[in-house]
Amino acid sequence: MKDMFKNSTSKEDKVQVALFGSGTGSNAETIIKTFKDHPTILPALVVSNKVDAGILNKAAFHNIPSAVISKEELQDQEKTIKVLADHKINFIVLAGFLLKIPSYLINAFPNKIINIHPALLPDFGGKGMYGMRVHEAVKRSGASKTGITIHYVDEVYDHGKVIFQRQIKLTPSDSPESIAQMVLKEEHEWYPKIIESLLHKG
Ligand code: GRF
Repeated sequence: MKDMFKNSTSKEDKVQVALFGSGTGSNAETIIKTFKDHPTILPALVVSNKVDAGILNKAAFHNIPSAVISKEELQDQEKTIKVLADHKINFIVLAGFLLKIPSYLINAFPNKIINIHPALLPDFGGKGMYGMRVHEAVKRSGASKTGITIHYVDEVYDHGKVIFQRQIKLTPSDSPESIAQMVLKEEHEWYPKIIESLLHKG
């Protein structure tokens, strides 16, 4: 008899991913769409430090549980760990999360927190380098290329071990806005693929 449950995995057997973001959440949404029905990876929680962040609307739209953890609450180890434990989170994906990840969280999730940066690290990274500031700096520098970097998160902004980079060639006619568009397109294409390659043990 055909076993209709043969290939199904219970929720608890999946890698349960928390998506952290402070802004629009377009990367988070792409990741949610990619893994909604995935056999081994589950977008289980969206976390934002901002009550009015677009990423929370994306979570609600896709029926993903969400939590707001303010800047101050993020320093509260017990509280934050409890939120993640309640949702059985075993991997954290930062997607436009602007706060620094505290050491206790890095220690609780060793090599299990990744980030995406909209440029080719180590260039154009570090504190205060986010959003359009990055693309404006790239433009000002006259660089002939930019790109995306997916990396593990350590205690220094934009510093952890690089997992993946993808280059984008620039021409003098590119503006910070056009650079932003090209970068976001690559992010949407590659972030879900890299997450799958790291987490899917199929
Ligand atoms: C992305 O460009 C990402 O590289 C950076 O923040 C931006 C988030 O955009 N870390 P979105 O919220 O996913 O639309």
